[in-house]
Amino acid sequence: MNTSPYPHLQQQDAKPVTIADLARMKVDGEKIACLTAYDASFAALEDRAGADVVLVGDSLGMVVQGESTTVPVTVDHMVYHSRITAAGLRRPFLMADLPFLSYATKHDALDTSRRLMGEGKAQMVKFEGGEIQADTIEHLSMRGVPVCAHIGLQPQLVHKMGGFKIQGRDKTQADTMLRDARILEEAGADMLLLECVPSALGAEITANAGVPVIGIGAGPDTDGQILVVYDILGLSPGKKPRFVRNFMDDANSLDAAVANYVAAVKSGDYPSAAHSFT
Ligand code: KIV
Repeated sequence: MNTSPYPHLQQQDAKPVTIADLARMKVDGEKIACLTAYDASFAALEDRAGADVVLVGDSLGMVVQGESTTVPVTVDHMVYHSRITAAGLRRPFLMADLPFLSYATKHDALDTSRRLMGEGKAQMVKFEGGEIQADTIEHLSMRGVPVCAHIGLQPQLVHKMGGFKIQGRDKTQADTMLRDARILEEAGADMLLLECVPSALGAEITANAGVPVIGIGAGPDTDGQILVVYDILGLSPGKKPRFVRNFMDDANSLDAAVANYVAAVKSGDYPSAAHSFT
């Protein structure tokens, strides 16, 4: 018997999204709507709204725990939040971040993935890094771990980079990112996540990739979009990044705001030029 308090979990009509569905959506040109969630109630809200992918991001360090970066997030935090997010989901595909230095070796990456997929019930793991992660991606992929490779701005490198900055504006950096995307896909990445790059580079990486490319601040031409759920609901304190749109501005409920986000991604209405970088 399902004793969940969420009525949508009892419904039988919507088939869970699979990795094959996401690949097909890229081929069909159907935009993939993704959002972060960190608990069952937000997961249920996003499921009701029709989100395709839910990410338990290590952004939870900032938006849930109140830290200034994602660096303090631990594997135990991620496993806990992934498990309680999974409890609210029926249809969306569940992805979870490997936190800072929890994938520094292939062995660590496999161990952390086992915990996130086993205890945390995630269906895909995401971690940051370009070519340097190719061996790790191959190692995980060959052992049945679906991987999303996060390139462009890598928030876990904040102390190394000296802040959060747009990536790929100069040609050398852009060429390196194009090459990284190809190498990571060849190593076995099933999805790419591209953060804070000029729209033209987002479009070029997406056009060259055989796997879905999800963007955040990467322009309108990626195969899908993701935002931090608290950002689209106007809950995050401080200055709003350029790529964020507050969907509560035109909505009278949380359900309407999240549904409007999904609809805007699906129709291509979000992101506009105002939410993109040149
Ligand atoms: O941690 C996170 O929420 C993320 C998104 C910003 C893509 O990686």
